[in-house]
Amino acid sequence: MRKFSLRHHLTSLEAMKAHMPATFEMNDNEACLSAWNDINQAQKALGLNFEEKDLVMVPDSTPIYDVHRTYEENYAEGPFGEFAALGAQASALGARTAPLEATATSALGSQVSPLETPTPFDTDTRHYSFFGQSVRTPFGIPAGPLLNERFTTAAFRAGFDIATYKTVRSRAWACNPFPNVLSVHPASGELTAGAPETVDGVLADDQFGSPETISISNSFGVPSQSPDVWQPDMQRAIQNAGPGQLLLASFQGSRTPEMSEEQYIADHVTTARLALETGAKVLEMNTSCPNEGKGRLLCHNPELVGRITEAVKNEIGDTPLIIKLAFMPDDADVERMMQNTVLRQSVQGFATINTISARLVNARGEQALPGEGRETSGVCGAAIRHAGLEMVERVIRVQRNLGIADDDFAVIGVGGVTSARDVQDYLSLGARAVMSATGAMWNARLGQDVRAALR
Ligand SMILES: Cc1cc2nc3c(=O)[nH]c(=O)nc-3n(C[C@H](O)[C@H](O)[C@H](O)COP(=O)(O)O)c2cc1C
Repeated sequence: MRKFSLRHHLTSLEAMKAHMPATFEMNDNEACLSAWNDINQAQKALGLNFEEKDLVMVPDSTPIYDVHRTYEENYAEGPFGEFAALGAQASALGARTAPLEATATSALGSQVSPLETPTPFDTDTRHYSFFGQSVRTPFGIPAGPLLNERFTTAAFRAGFDIATYKTVRSRAWACNPFPNVLSVHPASGELTAGAPETVDGVLADDQFGSPETISISNSFGVPSQSPDVWQPDMQRAIQNAGPGQLLLASFQGSRTPEMSEEQYIADHVTTARLALETGAKVLEMNTSCPNEGKGRLLCHNPELVGRITEAVKNEIGDTPLIIKLAFMPDDADVERMMQNTVLRQSVQGFATINTISARLVNARGEQALPGEGRETSGVCGAAIRHAGLEMVERVIRVQRNLGIADDDFAVIGVGGVTSARDVQDYLSLGARAVMSATGAMWNARLGQDVRAALR
């Protein structure tokens, strides 16, 4: 049974205490929200006046995307865990669009020390520029954990100022079979792309660790609803962003066996147009999921990425286009990608990295994820942080070598961010924004931690 506790600290308010036990547990989000509403009603009826801090939702440790449920269940019933509670708390308190305030105290109760970060572009509002859009913090959640508007709205309310809507396609696309997420345990704690361990096998099981050190498999196959479902939903998601918050729309092309390369390019263009129609202000194109069969990633073919992004840019005009990239071990590969995209003015930013591929095995050394073609899976979380940092450093070095101005290009650091300190590490390398998927999934307070640290 899933448990939430709604805990109050109203020791001085005897009348209120008579109306409820000190803590009580409910078995789903809806019951939790309804109880929250009842308490607020009771408060008004009794003429009591308590503050947000007096009443706290204390949920279980279920992540925003519940890994013990299918993708379809998550899509229909999520978000879960503390995200759901924080979202409910904000809306019950009448803050439909305003996100919760940062507390200057982390989820673990420790004080968050201020970060040495770039100066905000607007010193009055202390807002940052994210591809021309004003954001309160240059931090958020990348494509993946936020399946639909309910998820993105919960993320905004929880204080993540950039929320990426999970990658959409031009057509409905089924998810890989359940399970999709396992806990992954590289021997050294770190996973290096192409290391022997990624071929020999890395232990994967259901022993999910602490939010700071967690690493997981991510084997979804980039499922998508059809555009008639995701377009109106994405539009609502955009509308639910609070002041200083931005919805980033992620999309990708879909390649079917009968498709020619021209049709594959055209599919990207169609999907970009559909995303733009929702009112999205910045688009991100995923080039780092196996699209072309044989495990090859689109981003391993920079010439094709160049042709696609040129066609997409012709369609979307001035709207900034970011491409999502996998880890690349060589400067030369990054340079070829920049020459085919950024130097042709079709791409304004790289978001990097996506997952690192590894063979996953259970404790008996057998294939961990069931089914054909699932011997290997993408790994994300703390184990790939070093690779994400290395890639950001590489991208900025190549940018400088090619003489590309900061006004024309920005890199978003992704990979293994589980704390405000990790955000600082990416920013000090020159990343202009930072995002956390795995870390944020298990820590709904991370957005508030980063806000507090950036003050
Ligand atoms: C549950 C989940 C689903 C994901 N789905 C997508 C996706 O649809 N599109 C995409 O570009 N990246 C996807 N990703 C990859 C993340 O955006 C990110 O690049 C990767 O997880 C590394 O960040 P992390 O270490 O903070 O998790 C997904 C990640 C997770 C955890």
